[in-house]
Amino acid sequence: MRVNHVGEVCAQALYEGQALSANTPALASSFRKAAAEEGDHLAWTRERLDELGARPSLLNPLWFAGAFAIGALAGKLGDRLSLSFMAETERQVEQHLAGHLEKLPTADARSRAIVQVMREDEIAHAQTALRLGGGEMPAPVRSLMRLAARVMTRSAHYL
Ligand SMILES: [Fe+2]
Ligand SMILES: [Fe+2]
Repeated sequence: MRVNHVGEVCAQALYEGQALSANTPALASSFRKAAAEEGDHLAWTRERLDELGARPSLLNPLWFAGAFAIGALAGKLGDRLSLSFMAETERQVEQHLAGHLEKLPTADARSRAIVQVMREDEIAHAQTALRLGGGEMPAPVRSLMRLAARVMTRSAHYL
């Protein structure tokens, strides 16, 4: 759940950054809407962490700052790239959450419910990004994003 919480810290920061550098007010507001939903996810995962008596990652401020900068940069590189980046991010997050659902004990109904709803929201976010003009990211970029996500999820296990 700490890993999921870090993911939501990043997602929210990315979309705030992307909203800031989006080229049209309409797109900026779409990113803000997604960021607000990631804000809900952030609150749910935080609440669940507290219930489980676990702490959030110590590196969260770092992840937030990094993700915000990457989001702002993605927006600067153009709306289409920014949307493609969002679509790929959400695809990877959705895959992570699907994997987490498989590992979560059936008895932990509350965690499962949270992850399930987040997964549905992330699928919708990917669809929105594609509908607004996002495309496919080049394979090397997708791999790099996967690598960054692995560093993030691994470190969140410990720190
Ligand atoms: Fe999310
Ligand atoms: Fe999302």
